[in-house]
Amino acid sequence: MRRIGILTGGGDCPGINAVIRAVAKTAINDYGWEVFGIEDGYLGLIENRFRRLTYEDVSGILTLGGTILGTSNKTNPFAQPTKFKKRIVFRDFSRRCLNNFEKMKLESLVCIGGDGTLRIAYKFFEKGVPVIGIPKTIDNDVWGTDQTFGFDSAVLNATEAIDKLHTTAQSHHRVMIVEVMGRYAGWLALCSGIAGGGDIILIPEIPFSIEKVCEKVKERSRRGKRFSIVVVAEGAYPQGGKMVVQRIVKDSPDPIRLGGIGNFVAKQIEDRTEIECRVTVLGHLLRGGGPSAFDRILATRFGEYAVRLIKKGNFGEMVVLQGREIGSLSLAEAVSRIKKIPPTHHLLKVALAMGTSLGV
Ligand code: F6P
Repeated sequence: MRRIGILTGGGDCPGINAVIRAVAKTAINDYGWEVFGIEDGYLGLIENRFRRLTYEDVSGILTLGGTILGTSNKTNPFAQPTKFKKRIVFRDFSRRCLNNFEKMKLESLVCIGGDGTLRIAYKFFEKGVPVIGIPKTIDNDVWGTDQTFGFDSAVLNATEAIDKLHTTAQSHHRVMIVEVMGRYAGWLALCSGIAGGGDIILIPEIPFSIEKVCEKVKERSRRGKRFSIVVVAEGAYPQGGKMVVQRIVKDSPDPIRLGGIGNFVAKQIEDRTEIECRVTVLGHLLRGGGPSAFDRILATRFGEYAVRLIKKGNFGEMVVLQGREIGSLSLAEAVSRIKKIPPTHHLLKVALAMGTSLGV
């Protein structure tokens, strides 16, 4: 009987449990394989923490947010941040992981994660581990797939928040600034901004001019629209300026956490237009809760397809959505870059056609 391992790494997002369920059910139902969940991402692989996932374990988790396996965004087995004499040093635990993989008697490993997790998955593949990747993140920034699961749910969460801010913005004649996550890509801001009818959308791919932002607010005011909604990505920054770093997580392989640009934009607008502003940072609310119907379906399709790839022996691949079809791509290609919004992307034109300003 084949034994497959599964782990979830990096920041969580809605739909992870749906993927775990889909992998386990397909493996158990269609092939009679055994499935083992590795706890807390790669940390469980370093520490040899894993448990068998039975059919009952994965039943009833489709709609559940988070991950039943736990995750870690502070683990990189190839350069693990470790405290040594009050300092952080980076140690290579990859050999230990390979030994544990053998001890667990696993024959393949499904790694569910964003670009960081997938990059590590690729390194293990290069070391001989039969790996399959599944792209997960609210940022939608994984190269090679039209969409990651988790993104649609986050867009929905952001859109609902924007809708609510709209009504209070109207009543108080205020400018509401909504800061959304997304790291170095503006997908979440752009899509929720369009869905929520944002008046100004600011994304990292297009450094903004604060003058243009204020012009838009004033122009709306002149036309009798005494409120505005600004959707700003955490990675957006002014022309000639820099991204705002909220904190450095020293013991994280990717230590930069963005955040704070919303306050900067609010201060600038208030100073230049004298219109009252309020800032709402949606933060981790975007990642919480259960998956949307779209994400449930996408996660289920991804999980099912990952098992088919294992069956065919197509390791070193990541499942992808291309158009309406599920397929796969080499992990080497998938981790070669991150997916940002290209300048010619149709959604940018759509936003502009709606009269939305992109701050330029
Ligand atoms: O990658 C997902 C994400 O939510 C980003 O959008 C955000 O920048 C980051 O993770 C936040 O990380 P943490 O959970 O460590 O605060």
